[in-house]
Amino acid sequence: MNSLKSEGIQPFIVDGGDWLFHLNKLHSNPLVQKQMDEKAQLLIDAYNRFGTAAACLGEHDMALGLDRLIELNGKMKFPLLCANLSLEDGTKPFSGSTLLESQGRKVLMVGAIQIPNDRFIGKYCPKASFTDPVEAIKSEIARQTEKYDLCIVLGHIDRTDVDRLAAEVPEIDVIVEPNSMSRTETTWVNDDIKATVNEGCVMLKPSGQGSEMARADLWLRTDRQPWFDIWNEEAPPGSNIADLSIAALAPHIGRHPGMEKIVQGFVRSTRFKDPGDIDLSFKPVTNFLGATTCSGCHPQQADFWKNTGHADAYQTLVDTGDEFRYDCMPCHVTGYGETFVDAHEPGRWKDVQCESCHGNNPRHPIQPKAFPWPKLDVNKCWACHNPNETRVAFDPAEALPKVSCPPMKRN
Ligand code: HEC
Ligand code: HEC
Ligand code: HEC
Ligand code: HEC
Repeated sequence: MNSLKSEGIQPFIVDGGDWLFHLNKLHSNPLVQKQMDEKAQLLIDAYNRFGTAAACLGEHDMALGLDRLIELNGKMKFPLLCANLSLEDGTKPFSGSTLLESQGRKVLMVGAIQIPNDRFIGKYCPKASFTDPVEAIKSEIARQTEKYDLCIVLGHIDRTDVDRLAAEVPEIDVIVEPNSMSRTETTWVNDDIKATVNEGCVMLKPSGQGSEMARADLWLRTDRQPWFDIWNEEAPPGSNIADLSIAALAPHIGRHPGMEKIVQGFVRSTRFKDPGDIDLSFKPVTNFLGATTCSGCHPQQADFWKNTGHADAYQTLVDTGDEFRYDCMPCHVTGYGETFVDAHEPGRWKDVQCESCHGNNPRHPIQPKAFPWPKLDVNKCWACHNPNETRVAFDPAEALPKVSCPPMKRN
């Protein structure tokens, strides 16, 4: 972002929703709720510093209730868009659109959310009512009286609605739609529809979990005309051109002192201790025990593991001289970003150790029976065996037997 800005380009950062909370983690414990709230405030602070232009509302953003979200909205220095949500009294808590300027162009941004089910509404936003997002987006665009050059939709909507908008509303130039499911994949990593041109409309659908950012460089030449991918040789001369790419965001993009400070502030506050207790240097909070601890009680499984490639994953990087690279580290060590952050000092977190697959369960050694492990989740494998990054296909059914430790002998 900084290098773009230094070239005099004013990029828009937008978010398509579900950026504040995670619904699955909604917990009745007030301390956990306090943590969620503080994390949301951290994200708002960070988004403010990014210079975020607009964000859309997603269902997860209502995890602490619509009322709390409306309060948090007051801290956002950018609009949270949702054209199709109203309260009992008919008022709209969020704007449906915003008009911004970049490179001398007027840009209209419109946002809407797919209608949540009644159970969701009853639980998280009983005072709210929702209308059809496509119709809401259309009328938001239609009622725009000021002239604009470009229209961007932040659609927290499903695939059918995305396709309808692209086909039916020629005013729309770009649709950012992180929510729609295009396949039945269980994880985000395999979804290949990330940045494309469809029906003359630019579609951006980056992966979730902070893993990726989609980028569109747009050359607007003719108003209200279809867009063409820069690589499309059939683009007529003078047409609108989009150069699309995906930037990977791992836990290790360059360190930024301002951001580190707010993350530290968060870590500090969620410990619910006197802030004076903790200094601002990076101190990872960790639930990881490490393979050595496990091996003491599980020698057979440890021996098996030592013979798999996972136990040499760090050596693989050493062999090619890549062991200090932030972009290689996360999948060839354990818990990168949580156990350590300095690529030069992996310490005892080298290799893909037990907890990379089994997860975290720090109290297990004290009382193994009282703290059993959760069932092994193949999503853990996909996090590293991500074909988009490794360029190696991954089939869990074929791979699992090769790395499944032998069962324990139980009496
Ligand atoms: C933390 C990242 C990470 C996780 C989690 C992970 N792997 Fe791996 N896996 C790797 C890396 C890196 C290699 C390559 C190791 C090397 O040779 O350097 C690898 C190699 C493998 C291999 C080849 C093994 C061999 O012994 O040659 C198989 C099979 C495999 N993984 C299966 C799995 C399965 C199944 C899961 C989930 C249960 C899983 N992996 C979880 C990173 C991971
Ligand atoms: C997204 C996770 C991920 C990242 C990032 C990653 N790797 Fe890997 N790497 C893997 C996995 C998974 C495998 C095993 C692939 C397989 O064979 O199934 C692997 C395998 C390898 C192998 C082959 C090991 C062997 O001998 O079989 C090498 C070499 C390697 N990685 C080097 C690197 C380097 C260098 C980087 C940084 C540029 C890097 N990796 C970044 C996940 C990753
Ligand atoms: C102090 C000894 C001890 C340590 C250390 C230990 N375990 Fe265990 N573990 C046990 C015992 C005992 C059981 C069997 C519990 C039972 O019978 O239900 C067990 C069971 C398991 C199981 C089977 C599933 C379950 O929960 O019953 C897994 C998987 C496991 N341990 C993984 C690990 C991993 C990974 C580590 C390191 C992070 C680890 N253990 C550390 C003693 C230990
Ligand atoms: C690549 C992923 C992976 C790694 C790394 C790994 N395991 Fe496992 N482990 C498995 C799988 C898969 C199974 C099969 C049982 C299952 O599906 O839960 C298993 C089974 C076990 C069991 C037997 C569970 C039972 O119910 O009998 C124990 C104990 C265990 N692992 C401990 C360890 C320890 C200790 C380490 C590190 C030294 C380790 N594992 C590393 C994937 C892994």
